[in-house]
Amino acid sequence: MAGIYIHIPFCRHKCSYCDFASFPDKIDYAEAYMACLYKELKMRGDELKDYVFDTVYFGGGTPSYIPPKLILGAMNQIKKCFTLSENPEITLELNPGTIGQAKVDTYKQAGINRFSIGLQTAIDEQLEDLGRIHNARDYVYATSLLKGENFSTDVMLGLKNQTKEDVRKTIELAVKCGSKHISMYALTVEDGTPIYTDYLNGELPDSDEVAELYDYGYALLKDYGYERYEVSNFAKDGFESKHNLNYWKRGEYIGVGLSASSFMRGKRFTNTFNLDEYMKCIISGFYPAVTSEDVKGWDAKFEYVMLALRTKYGVCMSEYKQAFGTTLAEDFPVALKKTVKYLQLDGDNLRIKDEYLYTQNSILIYFMEEPHENG
Ligand SMILES: C[S@@+](CC[C@H](N)C(=O)[O-])C[C@H]1O[C@@H](n2cnc3c(N)ncnc32)[C@H](O)[C@@H]1O
Ligand code: SF4
Repeated sequence: MAGIYIHIPFCRHKCSYCDFASFPDKIDYAEAYMACLYKELKMRGDELKDYVFDTVYFGGGTPSYIPPKLILGAMNQIKKCFTLSENPEITLELNPGTIGQAKVDTYKQAGINRFSIGLQTAIDEQLEDLGRIHNARDYVYATSLLKGENFSTDVMLGLKNQTKEDVRKTIELAVKCGSKHISMYALTVEDGTPIYTDYLNGELPDSDEVAELYDYGYALLKDYGYERYEVSNFAKDGFESKHNLNYWKRGEYIGVGLSASSFMRGKRFTNTFNLDEYMKCIISGFYPAVTSEDVKGWDAKFEYVMLALRTKYGVCMSEYKQAFGTTLAEDFPVALKKTVKYLQLDGDNLRIKDEYLYTQNSILIYFMEEPHENG
């Protein structure tokens, strides 16, 4: 299993919480940027002839903001430069304020078969406060264009003045509009983003309040038949994101475009976050990498455990042994002893008990602190 991630760094407006590589004022660069991206696809593809890719994911930024013919062009280039499996999952992130019938038609022509829509909240005042360019009605319109399509909805928790009732309205809107998958993310407040001021002023819910909103949302989603398969991700049976599951299985993926990360042949590497530098490097025929590291030995084992424990499947013990030649019990004896009450063994899989999954970070600390030699 391997995936392709494509980063589109343009947005109509910068949301107050957003720390992604996304620019609100550079849409004029879109054609030139995509020409570079097509070239990077060719460069990467030439080196990965021995791979078959099962998923493609257009993320951002706002992929639905740029002219849709550029997405079609990217898909044509991907098909030319990479080998895709027979039924690849091809996802595109979409902002409800940037969509119309003509765009949807072009996406379908390009082979996009899954959409991820950023709703965040169904409460218009909160959307405005976040600097979102859409309201709840725009979301309803966007989903009406996607009737019969497989789409997911992003929801955020921990917003200013957000109540359980607001979370209920948001989830119920997504359910009513036919979302087969819902991602529910707790707001991460990054220093340097405008929302950081609200945080400093104590205007955002604290972590206990966010945990309560999460528990409430989790129970509601369960009632509506969405199963939690990762701490922030819920899906109707069979609608889990294959692309993201591959990340959590520590599968390989190639990231193309500004700030895109990759994990191939045991190496993690990330492209530059600087748009000019990205374009200059690609035009000159170089990869614009800023970081690259070999993940080996104990680091690779910890990474495997950390990613797997976020999911309902947990660590598959036989796969672990096959990947590393050692067992989980041999590698993490101290952590396993200390966390035993949080864990559950289901056949061959060791996972975090449902009631503790939201607090997985505090459980993972024990695994991170496991005394180890280099192996
Ligand atoms: C790249 S955005 C999705 C597409 C599009 N840019 C949009 O916002 O509609 C991916 C998702 O990450 C989540 N997200 C972004 N910044 C976040 C933050 N600081 N904390 C929590 N979730 C965040 C949002 O739910 C967002 O929909
Ligand atoms: S639309 Fe999405 S990527 Fe763009 S600024 Fe808002 S959250 Fe960030």
